[in-house]
Amino acid sequence: MKTLVVGPGGREHALALALSQDPAVTEVHAAPGNPGMTGVAALHDVDAMDGEAVADLAERLDIDLVVVGPEAPLVAGVADAVRARGIACFGPTQAAAQLEGSKAFAKDVMQAAGVPTARAIVCTTRDEAAAALDEFGPPYVVKDDALAAGKGVVVGNDRAAALEHAAACHRVVIEEYLDGPEVSLFAITDGTTVYPLQPAQDFKRIFDGDQGANTGGMGAYTPLPWAPEHLVEEVRATVLEPTVREMARRGTPFAGLLYAGLALTSKGLRVVEFNARFGDPETQPLLALLDSPLAALLQGAATGTLHEVPSPVWRPGAAVAVVLASKGYPETSSSGDVISLGGAERLDGVHVIHAGTAMSGGDLVTAGGRVLAVVATGDTVAAARDAAYAGVAHVEFEGAQHRTDIAKGI
Ligand code: AMP
Ligand code: GLY
Repeated sequence: MKTLVVGPGGREHALALALSQDPAVTEVHAAPGNPGMTGVAALHDVDAMDGEAVADLAERLDIDLVVVGPEAPLVAGVADAVRARGIACFGPTQAAAQLEGSKAFAKDVMQAAGVPTARAIVCTTRDEAAAALDEFGPPYVVKDDALAAGKGVVVGNDRAAALEHAAACHRVVIEEYLDGPEVSLFAITDGTTVYPLQPAQDFKRIFDGDQGANTGGMGAYTPLPWAPEHLVEEVRATVLEPTVREMARRGTPFAGLLYAGLALTSKGLRVVEFNARFGDPETQPLLALLDSPLAALLQGAATGTLHEVPSPVWRPGAAVAVVLASKGYPETSSSGDVISLGGAERLDGVHVIHAGTAMSGGDLVTAGGRVLAVVATGDTVAAARDAAYAGVAHVEFEGAQHRTDIAKGI
């Protein structure tokens, strides 16, 4: 099977790596990919946001399966452009990707499907926002309705800051605060059959102890030894299947990766958000433990034949990813700082997954906020964590920042 991974980041590197290890896959291509992928994929300088250009490339390479990684091309309809050429594509339609593209749409679907989530009010004016903030009280939760790479959400006790964020956005969702630990639970679906993956946990804030601004994710691990025993079954029955059914009922079936961001609150589980694609960085540790061939699962989802593919099987043990970000992230980012991997990529059981990297005059340099992730496996979360941080210690670049408490104490 010839495959094409669309997107530039860490999730796409992890997907390309897993596809390259699948015996059924003969070729892995990436558009545009990143320098970390050169060993596992052929890179093509094609804009991931340009559906026609991606479809042209897939046709020219005679690709059997296109995998669209990030949300922005999905929301822009890149998967539709590929499918219009008769090429199988993993990733929802533009219409179904609204589950991530609009928080107000996602709330509407959840309400119709009876999926547990925070009570919410959609606001377009400052007065509406002020009233909604006072209705729910602190801590305040204000979400930009549009895509914001994980950075459009303000959570905190500062009412003035919450109101300022609301006023700066075109439309916001203001909602009740959810307490309790967060879990990322992904499911591969063809619009009918739903295969949940192993639960993972992501660390969203920039600083240790969950302090500072929200980011796209500074680290992740899987599995969650502390999770309630029947969590996956409960999420399947109360969140994933009702959502997939509701999307089909609306005539916009969701096929691809349904990402349920959950809070395990004192009142039970609640959906914090849906995403329409693999999470980043959770995908990096998840795929490090996936024992099933990845291509068959993605192709089954892309072609409506997932029921013919065995459900995913996991290796025992655990995996941990620690993200290194560039100077200034998440408010800004720094480019062109020379990166030394220091041999981290050659350590046993360790992968260096690139995200915001580039080549410049023969040097590997930073080219974005989240630069790379060191991913390691081990018999336990603690062992995987030790191995990941041993890898992190080898990596150097000017202004590098990383959290020191990813998967700590698990
Ligand atoms: P989202 O983009 O909706 O995932 O929000 C980003 C992050 O903000 C989440 O991962 C949570 O850490 C936090 N967050 C979002 N919604 C809530 C909420 N209702 N209560 C508490 N924290 C939230
Ligand atoms: N790690 C969070 C996300 O992918 O949205």
